[in-house]
Amino acid sequence: MYINEVAKKLETSTRTIRYYEEKGLIDPTKEESNQYRFFEEEDLVRLSTILSLREVGLPVEVIRNLLKEPNMRMEDYLNVQRGVLYEQWLELKDMIETLNLMTERAGKGDNVTGDLFGLAKQLKTLKSMRKNWHDKWNFDSQAHDYDQSIKMHGYKFNVHQDYETALNKVVETVHLNPGDVCLDIGIGTGNLGSQFTGSGAKVIGVDQSEEMLAVCKEKHPGIETRKGHFLALPVMNMQVDAIVSSYALHHLTDDEKLLALEEMDRVLKKNGEICIADLMFLNEAHRREVIQGFREQGNDEAIGAIEDEYYADRSRLIDWLQKHDYTVETHQFNSILSMIYARKHAENEK
Ligand SMILES: C[S@@+](CC[C@H](N)C(=O)[O-])C[C@H]1O[C@@H](n2cnc3c(N)ncnc32)[C@H](O)[C@@H]1O
Repeated sequence: MYINEVAKKLETSTRTIRYYEEKGLIDPTKEESNQYRFFEEEDLVRLSTILSLREVGLPVEVIRNLLKEPNMRMEDYLNVQRGVLYEQWLELKDMIETLNLMTERAGKGDNVTGDLFGLAKQLKTLKSMRKNWHDKWNFDSQAHDYDQSIKMHGYKFNVHQDYETALNKVVETVHLNPGDVCLDIGIGTGNLGSQFTGSGAKVIGVDQSEEMLAVCKEKHPGIETRKGHFLALPVMNMQVDAIVSSYALHHLTDDEKLLALEEMDRVLKKNGEICIADLMFLNEAHRREVIQGFREQGNDEAIGAIEDEYYADRSRLIDWLQKHDYTVETHQFNSILSMIYARKHAENEK
């Protein structure tokens, strides 16, 4: 097939096709006599793949790499791109919401410069919070040994004490019906989320680590895995019936945790449930008391582990949830591990 026919068939322009050729993504044969490009069936398949991936915004470089891989896992690339698009979508949402507020204030008369600047500043902070979280623990590198590592105990400090009890408690606390959607955020290798697949619910596992998601998918093919993070969940508004999370939220600072709760609230349906089992202190006084206790025991291992992460102040999370119309219950497993269970009131509409 010649270039004009290909362009017509694939509803694109000859210029676009030549561009992908220039970029080395396609290499049609050229007729010897006149150098006209000739496209075989496989060139057409390749070109239509390129056009489809460009349509959803995959960069040309990424498509090139994808096509080069002999065992290309297109699903993984699409998964990454979905996460990127959700981040862009949320950034636009934040901007539109701020713009609405600015319009409202501007309409109220003169002398609003300070107001507008304040709103712009809040927006800037929000944008940078959503963008700047990064994985300083390198979870990709931990993925393959993770299940083994949780069985091992530190010398003087075991963060996984009561791990199974906590996960079981989350499972028995959350109410799911067949057909419900359950989101496990920071799913890791799927130890919590997998326990809900038997209930007939659809389980979606979100994680920022592609390697964790790969291990999770291999262990539990029934879980839908999505690349994304607490601060930009790859889910549309009010789509899920329950959100669970274990041992993940403490990788966010206290302010980031509140934004994570806002994100959970965005995707959760009315009457939906949030159940988080994580490393946290009851409040700041309790944090000081526990750390002081470790100090007196000379337990530097415990103090180092706590300081390397961001164990929550449970009272701040409860406060946020209650202010946003959630009924909250808690359970404490040990001095550093708690569960928060929260139900969203029907009136809470976002
Ligand atoms: C300690 S593992 C816990 C895994 C699993 N939930 C469990 O209980 O075994 C923490 C997981 O949270 C993920 N995680 C950490 N911070 C995250 C973030 N900001 N957004 C999404 N996932 C995150 C990590 O990639 C990792 O897979």
